[in-house]
Formats: sequence, C-alpha cells, structure tokens
Amino acid sequence: MIEIRKATLKDIDQVHDLVNKYAKEELLLPRTRESLVINIQSIFVASEGGEVLGVACLAILGQDLAEIRSLAVSEKAQGRGIGKMLVEKIIEETKNIGISKLISLTYQVVFFEKCGFTIIEKTEMPQKVWTDCIHCPKFPACDEVAMAIHL
Ligand SMILES: CC(C)(COP(=O)(O)OP(=O)(O)OC[C@H]1O[C@@H](n2cnc3c(N)ncnc32)[C@H](O)[C@@H]1OP(=O)(O)O)[C@@H](O)C(=O)NCCC(=O)NCCS
Repeated sequence: MIEIRKATLKDIDQVHDLVNKYAKEELLLPRTRESLVINIQSIFVASEGGEVLGVACLAILGQDLAEIRSLAVSEKAQGRGIGKMLVEKIIEETKNIGISKLISLTYQVVFFEKCGFTIIEKTEMPQKVWTDCIHCPKFPACDEVAMAIHL
C-alpha cells in the first residue's frame, strides 16, 4: 500500500540517493543532503513499508508562483501511478497555500501533460529565471521544457 506523506528526517538518506541517482543521468538537478534537510517541510515522499519509492518537492518562487522540483520515482516502482500521485499532492499543497500557478522545468513532457500541465514559454516565468536559473550550470542554454498548470 503506497502512502503519500510529508518526508521526515528518517527518509532523507533514501531521498538523497533517489534524487542523486537521476541527477547523475542529468534528468534532475543534484541536491545536497543539507539542502534536503533544510527544505524538509516542502518534501513529500511515496513510501511503502518504510521504503521511499518516490519523492517530490514544492518550492515557492514568488507571491503566485511555485515549482515542483526533484520529482523522482525509483526505477522498480515506475508505471504504478506514483509519479502522478506525487504531482497531485504537490498541486493540493500549492492550492492550499493559495498559489494559482505551478511550474515544472522538465524533459518528461508527456508525463506532465497527463498531470494537466501545458507547455509555456520560459519568458513567462521571469521569477524563476532570475532567482534560480542564473545559478544553474545549464544557464543560459537550458534544454528543459517549461510547463505550467493553473490551479
Ligand atoms: C517521470 C517519472 C516521475 C514518472 O513516474 P511514474 O510513477 O513512472 O509515472 P506514473 O506511473 O504516475 O505515470 C502517469 C502517466 O504518465 C505516463 N508516463 C510516465 N512516464 C512517462 C514517460 N517517460 N513518457 C511518457 N509517458 C509517461 C504513464 O504512462 C501514465 O499514463 P496513464 O495515466 O495514461 O496511464 C519517473 O519516470 C521518473 O522518476 N523519472 C526519472 C526522473 C525524472 O525525469 N523526473 C522528472 C523531473 S521534472
């Protein structure tokens, strides 16, 4: 039975391993253990019997803009709807906070379309570009697709 819940410090090592496995494949940005710990309140996990099978983080970028980050489902658990459940949880949290626009920078366009996102121009997210992208090794030649959902 899959449970979608807030992460606790006990999950951090598994979350760190999962995110950084995909970061090595350049599908996600790497996260330090410290960055995961200090952002623990915004991290959600999919767990089954104490094992972390998936993770997603909610980052607030501005008054009415949030981003889903570090979305990852372990290879053995893919295709069971866990990624979609995590995105739905992040959408619910974003709505509860009162933010109406949630974005993702991703290579997984079809997956995010199935979660209700549509492709947008990167110029539609200036806060993201000026707060985060300028610090990213891929900037300014980012090949990820910008997607958004209005809540
Ligand atoms: C992308 C990822 C999170 C999807 O997780 P998942 O648990 O396998 O996805 P789900 O089972 O919830 O899939 C939901 C739907 O999206 C589809 N889907 C999932 N991954 C897909 C892909 N790569 N290409 C096309 N469709 C995909 C599924 O078929 C399913 O469709 P359905 O609702 O019509 O049956 C997972 O593959 C992953 O962790 N990838 C590596 C890291 C990564 O790229 N993260 C995204 C960074 S933004």
